[in-house]
Amino acid sequence: MLILGIETSCDETAASVVENGTKVLSNVIASSEKLHIKTGGIIPENAARQQVLSIIPVIKKALIEASEIPHKVRSSHVAKSLRNDEAGLDSLPASSTIQQLDAIAVTYGPGLIGSLLVGVETAKTLSYLWKKPIIPVNHLVAHIYANFIHEAPNSPPGRARGKSQVPKFPAIALVVSGGHTDLVLMKGHGKIKWLGGTRDDAAGEAFDKCARLLGLPYPGGPSISANAEKFLNSKSKIQNLDVFPRPMINSDNFDFSFSGLKTSVFNRVKKKESKSAKDGYSIPQLSAEIQEAIVDLLVTKSLKAIDKFKPKSFLLSGGVAANKRLRTKLKSAIEKQNDLEFHVPPVPLCTDNAAMIAAAAFFNYRPVPWKKVTANPQLTISGEN
Ligand code: KG4
Ligand code: ZN
Repeated sequence: MLILGIETSCDETAASVVENGTKVLSNVIASSEKLHIKTGGIIPENAARQQVLSIIPVIKKALIEASEIPHKVRSSHVAKSLRNDEAGLDSLPASSTIQQLDAIAVTYGPGLIGSLLVGVETAKTLSYLWKKPIIPVNHLVAHIYANFIHEAPNSPPGRARGKSQVPKFPAIALVVSGGHTDLVLMKGHGKIKWLGGTRDDAAGEAFDKCARLLGLPYPGGPSISANAEKFLNSKSKIQNLDVFPRPMINSDNFDFSFSGLKTSVFNRVKKKESKSAKDGYSIPQLSAEIQEAIVDLLVTKSLKAIDKFKPKSFLLSGGVAANKRLRTKLKSAIEKQNDLEFHVPPVPLCTDNAAMIAAAAFFNYRPVPWKKVTANPQLTISGEN
């Protein structure tokens, strides 16, 4: 089964053709990130305008790539120079791919309303025109399904996961992104029970806000992570990284709290600014300490959920899952346990992409009439508002 996935929940415009939910034939992403670097964060209206400009060229490119090299997986970023006059889908050389498509999957929430609407309305129009079923997909659930893709773009040769490594149920999944932090129990496809989540900032948001306090560029996760790596790999003896508070780490639930971290970082930075003398810490050191606090909270609550529910696999996903320290610490903690598999998507499939949207639609194939598909910015991982 061939599904065209469309993702426009935030600042990425993405389209992907995926076979049987596991093999990516094309994976095209245009990001308006550069625009948001200038403003230090996303301005929703700017993101939505970029979605409008990029959506048709991105879909067109995904279809063409899938038709040209169906046997070879690759990912590409659309050059900013793609012009709208290139966007006539009716003249597509990929018309055979369009014919072969079994369905169209689209993110309907959560996300920024202006951005979501672009993907949803485009998908509905194509569903009507091409007479293809449409499957609305929950973006947060789709992050988890990046773990079911075993032929992924940008995977180093030989790293493609075999069918035997398809995640087993029951699974515990941790979704950590810019807007959400959710820990769920998954008993089967679509059978998701929410266990806990953040009470204030999301893990990615904590990275982004702390980075801004340190004067590091948006998005903060990769900036803090790169600086922290510098510190962790430096020859200087690593001191105690247990500097910032870990709120709720011992609480008797699966909830998280990250907002206190930015206050502590703010106070520390202010203290440094008020002293004229040498302060005794560097941005790489501070980055490593911030990263460690976030990673410790995520690892501790994940292990607590594993201890209680005894799953067969653990699935890490979302933009923050690209974090090297988090991947390493979770993997080593989990692989110490018998009969428990650790899964994490390759880095390009952790951050927003449309391959995960198509994969989620394949494993939860529930088409709805196109007229009934509506954007839902407040959607939660368990499908509620
Ligand atoms: O899943 P995602 O691409 O978009 C949302 O659905 O929100 O996640 C974006 C988030 C941002 O907060 C970004 O700072 C964070 O993922 N992120 C990282 C890393 N790469 C992206 N956080 C920590 N370390 C990284 N390497
Ligand atoms: Zn996301």
